[in-house]
Amino acid sequence: MTVKEFIRGSQNIIMNKLQIAKLFRTKCLAAVLGLAGCFCNMSVALASEDLLEHGRYVFYAAGCVSCHTRDQLMAGGRPLVSPFGTFYPPNVTPHREYGIGAWSEEDFLRALREGLNPQGEHYYPAFPYPSYTRMTRQDMQALYAYLMTLPASSRGIQPHDLPWPFSSRPMVAYWKAGRFTSGEFPTDPDKSPQWNRGAYLADALGHCSECHTPRDYLGTPRRDRYLAGTCTGPDGRRVPNITPDRDTGIGHWTCEALMTFLKTGKKPDGSYTDSLMAEVLGTSCMQLTRDDLHSLAIYLQSLPPIHNDLDALCAPFDDSSFYD
Ligand code: HEC
Ligand code: HEC
Repeated sequence: MTVKEFIRGSQNIIMNKLQIAKLFRTKCLAAVLGLAGCFCNMSVALASEDLLEHGRYVFYAAGCVSCHTRDQLMAGGRPLVSPFGTFYPPNVTPHREYGIGAWSEEDFLRALREGLNPQGEHYYPAFPYPSYTRMTRQDMQALYAYLMTLPASSRGIQPHDLPWPFSSRPMVAYWKAGRFTSGEFPTDPDKSPQWNRGAYLADALGHCSECHTPRDYLGTPRRDRYLAGTCTGPDGRRVPNITPDRDTGIGHWTCEALMTFLKTGKKPDGSYTDSLMAEVLGTSCMQLTRDDLHSLAIYLQSLPPIHNDLDALCAPFDDSSFYD
C-alpha cells in the first residue's frame, strides 16, 4: 500500500473507533440522564459532555492510541521493541479486572504524574510518563473521564519480555532517582502564549522528544541534543533531526510547510512521510486544531538549531518490512 493509503487507513480506523466511542458515550449519557431524571439539571450534562470532548482531544493529542492498540482501542497487546527488550503496553480500557476500570481518578493521575501503579510500584519509562507528568491536572482529569467511556476489553495481561537486569521493576527506582522529575509544565512568562502552548503540545502531550532526541546508555533523552535526531530510534529506526538547523535539520521549512506536514504528512519536496511518523500523524497530530498546529510549528522553529548529520552517521536502514 502507498503511504497516503496507510495514513488514510489509520485515519479511517480512528474514525471508526471514534464513532464507536461516541455511540457508547451518547448511550452512557442518555442512561445517566434517564436515571438521574429531574435530579440532574441540563448544565451538569453539558459540562460532562464538554469534559469528554476535552478528554478526547487530549487523548489523541497525547498519542495514547498508538502503543496501546492492536485490534481493540486501548486494549494492549501490541509489542513495543526497545534496546532493553520488548514491552507489551497493557490493557487500559475500563474493564474492572483486566483494564483500569477499578482505578480511582487519583490512581490514574499518579500513574501519569509519578510513574507509579496503585500498589506504589514503578513503571518503566517506555510508558512516556516522563513527558506526561508535565500535563495539567485538568487535562489528566478529562483524559481519565474519556478513557472510562471506551468499550471495556477482557484482553489479559501479557508480561514484558525483558532480560535481567531490566526485568527487575525496583531497578527503575534508580533510573528515576537521577533522571525523572515529576511536575506540571512550567509556563515561561517571557514567551508568548502560543509558544507556551506549542512547548506543551510537543513536550507534555506530543512526546516528540521520545523519538527525535538521542538517548544516553540508560535510555534517557539527552537534553543537550533535544530533537536533534538519532540513528537508533524506536524499533532501531533512524529518526530525523527536527531542530531548525538549515543543513541537517528542518531549518529550511517554512512555518506553513511544517503545519502542512503535521496535518497531511506531505513534505516540502512533495514526498510523504512513512513508518512511525505516519502513525504519529494518523493517530495524533492530524487530530489537532489549526491553532494548535500553528503553536507547535512556532515552538519547533524557535528551538536552537543543532547540527547533526545523520546521513554521515547512520548505516542505511531497510524499511521494506514495515508494510508487511
Ligand atoms: C510509547 C508507547 C506508549 C504510549 C504513547 C502510551 N503508553 Fe501507556 N504504557 C506503555 C507501556 C510500555 C506501559 C507499561 C509500563 C510498565 O509495565 O511499567 C504503559 C502503561 C500504562 C498504564 C498503566 C496500566 C496498568 O495496568 O498499570 C496506563 C494507565 C497507561 N499506560 C495509560 C496511557 C495513556 C493514558 C496514554 C496517553 C496519554 C499512554 N498510556 C500512552 C506505553 C505507552
Ligand atoms: C514514534 C516515534 C516518533 C514520534 C513520537 C514523533 N516522530 Fe517525527 N518522525 C519519526 C520518524 C521515524 C521520522 C522519519 C520518517 C520519514 O523519513 O519521513 C519522523 C519524521 C518527522 C519529520 C520530518 C523531518 C524530515 O526531515 O523529513 C518531522 C517534521 C517530525 N517528524 C516532527 C515530529 C513532531 C513535531 C513530533 C511530536 C508531535 C514527532 N515528530 C513525533 C518518529 C517519530
